Amino acid sequence: MMKLSEIKTIFQNELSELYSKSEIEELFSIFCESFLELNKIELRQNLDKELSENDSNKFLETISELKTGKPFQQILGETEFYGMKFFVNEHVLIPRPETEELLELAINKIQEKSKKNQVFNYGLREPQPDKQQPSTNNHQLKILDIGTGSGIIPIVLKKHFPEAEVSSIDISKDALEIAKKNAEFHKVEINFVNKDYLNEVFDSSQTDNEVYDIIISNPPYIGIEENIEIEDSVKGFEPNLALFSPTSDALIFYRKIAEDCKNHLSENGMVFLEINQKLGKETLELFLNFSESVLLKDISGNDRMIFARK
Ligand SMILES: C[S@@+](CC[C@H](N)C(=O)[O-])C[C@H]1O[C@@H](n2cnc3c(N)ncnc32)[C@H](O)[C@@H]1O
Repeated sequence: MMKLSEIKTIFQNELSELYSKSEIEELFSIFCESFLELNKIELRQNLDKELSENDSNKFLETISELKTGKPFQQILGETEFYGMKFFVNEHVLIPRPETEELLELAINKIQEKSKKNQVFNYGLREPQPDKQQPSTNNHQLKILDIGTGSGIIPIVLKKHFPEAEVSSIDISKDALEIAKKNAEFHKVEINFVNKDYLNEVFDSSQTDNEVYDIIISNPPYIGIEENIEIEDSVKGFEPNLALFSPTSDALIFYRKIAEDCKNHLSENGMVFLEINQKLGKETLELFLNFSESVLLKDISGNDRMIFARK
């Protein structure tokens, strides 16, 4: 039988080369919450608790996994994003806080627009003649998310704009499985499409079907030459497909998005993109022919988002 305090000591000794003391404390409390349902205060009060063999083994296995550099979210199989639970595994990027900022921006801009009632109102593309009237669905707000990964972007948007028609593309079938599981968990309907966006030719004849009011994306944006600067724990455990541009052109997705906006973004439609902090100006340049285009910083002060309005 092992005491919780002994497990804590093993955590600290075994992981000290990989993590700082405060990170180890945090990891220990995350797994105590998950395995024993103890919050931080209860944890401090229960350090003398004797663990069952099963629980001790869970902690010891976790330590071995953490020692390989595996992200704790993958060990848990889930993470929190935008205050919601999402399943993750080795096939999807672990959602980052920068993407919460992108979503916050998008949600505010869409709501702002609906309040002004200029183009659509919570899912309506035309101004509502009578605000009391429920929406009719031929004028739904249409959202396209490119490179959906775990599905965080479409799911959070659909939760905020339940009337919207939300489509998401990803090249990875494995990622889409997790995205679908997350959509089911949150009880939202998203149209998930397994496609290579870079080779996607939109059908211009079906104009109405292929014109979106919102295009949003956090595409792979690390150039091949930046590869060496990325931490091993990221490169080793998160899918390369999610991180790296397939060519030496780190802006390949952004160029295609800017081009596709010509025919497939509605008038006054908006684009929200997470970007490579080193390529802010170059990425913004692709959207300068829009009526409004702005480069925005994240909370750490790095160039991180592009907002453009057609
Ligand atoms: C940086 S991840 C973003 C995932 C998620 N949207 C997020 O913000 O956490 C990029 C995603 O794009 C997908 N992807 C990569 N190449 C693609 C392509 N050619 N067409 C469509 N999706 C692609 C990857 O599978 C990955 O899920």
